[in-house]
Amino acid sequence: MNPVLEYLAQHHERFVRDLGDYVRFPSISAQPQHKPDLQACATWLAERCRQLGLDTELCPTPGHPVVLARTPRQPGSQRPHFVVYGHYDVQPPEPFELWTSPPFEPRLSGSSLFARGASDNKGQHLAHLNAVEAYLHTGTELPCDLTFVIEGEEEVGSPNLAGFLEARRTELRCHHVVISDTGMPARDLPALTYGLRGIVAVELKLTGPSRDLHSGIFGGTVDNPALALCQVLAQLRDRRGRVNIPGFYDDVVSLSPYERRQLARLPYQERAYTKFLGVPQLAGEAGYTAWEQRSARPTVEINGLTSGYQGEGSKTIIPAWASAKLTFRLVPNQKPRPIARCVQRHLRKLCPPTVRADIHIGHGGEPYLLDPRSPAARAALRALAKAFDREPVLLREGGSIPIVTEFQRILGAETLLLGLALPDDNAHSPNEKFDLDNYAAGMRLGAALWPELAAIA
Ligand code: BES
Ligand code: ZN
Repeated sequence: MNPVLEYLAQHHERFVRDLGDYVRFPSISAQPQHKPDLQACATWLAERCRQLGLDTELCPTPGHPVVLARTPRQPGSQRPHFVVYGHYDVQPPEPFELWTSPPFEPRLSGSSLFARGASDNKGQHLAHLNAVEAYLHTGTELPCDLTFVIEGEEEVGSPNLAGFLEARRTELRCHHVVISDTGMPARDLPALTYGLRGIVAVELKLTGPSRDLHSGIFGGTVDNPALALCQVLAQLRDRRGRVNIPGFYDDVVSLSPYERRQLARLPYQERAYTKFLGVPQLAGEAGYTAWEQRSARPTVEINGLTSGYQGEGSKTIIPAWASAKLTFRLVPNQKPRPIARCVQRHLRKLCPPTVRADIHIGHGGEPYLLDPRSPAARAALRALAKAFDREPVLLREGGSIPIVTEFQRILGAETLLLGLALPDDNAHSPNEKFDLDNYAAGMRLGAALWPELAAIA
């Protein structure tokens, strides 16, 4: 057996314990009170990188730190260079009451480790670090130089990473970026993700009276901001499931017949999918399959809606304000800025003069598409096949990793997305988990990938 693989198998239990330690940090980037936890988490990660033999820096940014860790360089090395990206920040765990065990206390059950961040994304990049440890500790020569860039702000749109990449662009110049932060369509079905959706976040707040009012005394004379908001939001999607905003679809590239054929080959059973999601019936844009709808078509979603009295019992008021957090998922060739402008213009038009509208445009990211037939994509597919002992599929996915197009712009490097998450890993949901068989497969992927990629670089 190859010594790297042997080492990975021998140390599996410790690697699971390491992941357990890593997920204990409540590194919730969206919540300012967790800033010290992000710092502590980054410090732990940097220490782990140093221990395994990487030349490591904990780099401050205006937000949360970036962990930068490099394999030992040979002087004057002409070896190919790859960047491995990941994020140590996690999504908020709320609602707590739906967790079977506390989100930041790792729980092993069957072949899974349950905790917020286990699969998105701590387990996935730790697998790559473990694979590098196996190379270094067995004295197996890596065929390339690697730099790990692990940030703490992915889940809030990576506001400081592009600046960091600009500042370090010379040392980070590389042949390709590798990211394991996406999913697989099913267990034992590895995938190369060659497309991601982009995103634009928008907050809309409608303000009416200067304070909550008695709805009996004043109702009928002043507008109700909550109702006005509902009426505005209800117009954002039409009956056919399309985003109802002028200009929104102008730059959308339609799916090619080749892509539609590829997506049609992916496993999908409507009944199982419906049951898995717990919905009475599916919804979506007419004329597209479920895979097409959730990976290659743009959408509008309401992520949060707040107004009025939320406590027990009733309270008869006209709330002073109502607000909604929206995100739009974008597909090639939609761009976040022009889309944000057309959304803003349309929202202004829809809001009645009886309320004041504040529109805040939040983070944004461009959609991504890679040529799935490029030599690097084919090399990655070979590594996936070795690691999982299964033929991988090609995939476009609906989630977003905004920094991917910045890697292209700033470092001139394309990204290979080799996801290890399962559909039921509950990313962003209660009871997130990571499958430990996939953790092991991810390490084998880290073992197989570098010789394949170095050979074509
Ligand atoms: N790991 C996800 C992205 C992802 C998941 C891509 C599954 C494809 C399939 C990442 O951590 C994430 O959640 N990104 C955010 C980005 C946003 C906050 C800017 C997303 O997609 O909502
Ligand atoms: Zn995420």
